[in-house]
Amino acid sequence: MDKIDIKTVRLPHPTPLVVAVSGNNPPNPSTYIYFSQLNDHPPIVGIGIKKKRYTYKLIREFRDWTINIVSENILKEADKAGTISGNKQNKSKILELDYISSNKIKSFGIKESIIIYEVQYMNEVEFPDHNLVYGEVVNIKIDKCYMNENKINFEKVPFILSSYYSMDYYGMGKFKNHWGFGLKGEK
Ligand SMILES: Cc1cc2nc3c(=O)[nH]c(=O)nc-3n(C[C@H](O)[C@H](O)[C@H](O)COP(=O)(O)O)c2cc1C
Repeated sequence: MDKIDIKTVRLPHPTPLVVAVSGNNPPNPSTYIYFSQLNDHPPIVGIGIKKKRYTYKLIREFRDWTINIVSENILKEADKAGTISGNKQNKSKILELDYISSNKIKSFGIKESIIIYEVQYMNEVEFPDHNLVYGEVVNIKIDKCYMNENKINFEKVPFILSSYYSMDYYGMGKFKNHWGFGLKGEK
């Protein structure tokens, strides 16, 4: 295959909405595609966030947040949440989303999301244009219908992938095989 050099690629990834607790202020959902799990024990996740974001200020002040994985039914709201800033507008009045209390932190979760991570701030690393803000996952909620004998049935989960590169949204792919199949001589 012929290769060409390109300057950047930002791979498609399940789309998360971040809600950081805002004291007595209304919830402020925002879309953060720079999101990843960074450690297993304890489970640590991080987001890449610009310091000018309202969400960043809320996380710094209140020290916890939820990460809400978006499905098709709230994609439009997630798209709006990633375009409007809480610095200027009260998003809770604009977005048609319902909020539920978390078990272990103060931040709300989004009822319509598929998976909700409850995260407690640990620390951050400053990069030139984004900060990696990371924290411990102290609880996770998932819609029961996506579980199959205590395992998540990822093929059923209607993830929406998105990329900072193409700035598009995509549906999830099909199951191909299990990890380790390569060494078992399977095709
Ligand atoms: C699909 C999508 C993904 C985004 N991912 C990020 C991200 O990873 N980091 C970031 O700083 N901004 C990201 N943004 C931009 C913020 O969501 C946007 O600036 C939002 O208005 C910030 O809201 P806030 O100021 O209320 O926190 C993304 C926007 C969209 C639409």
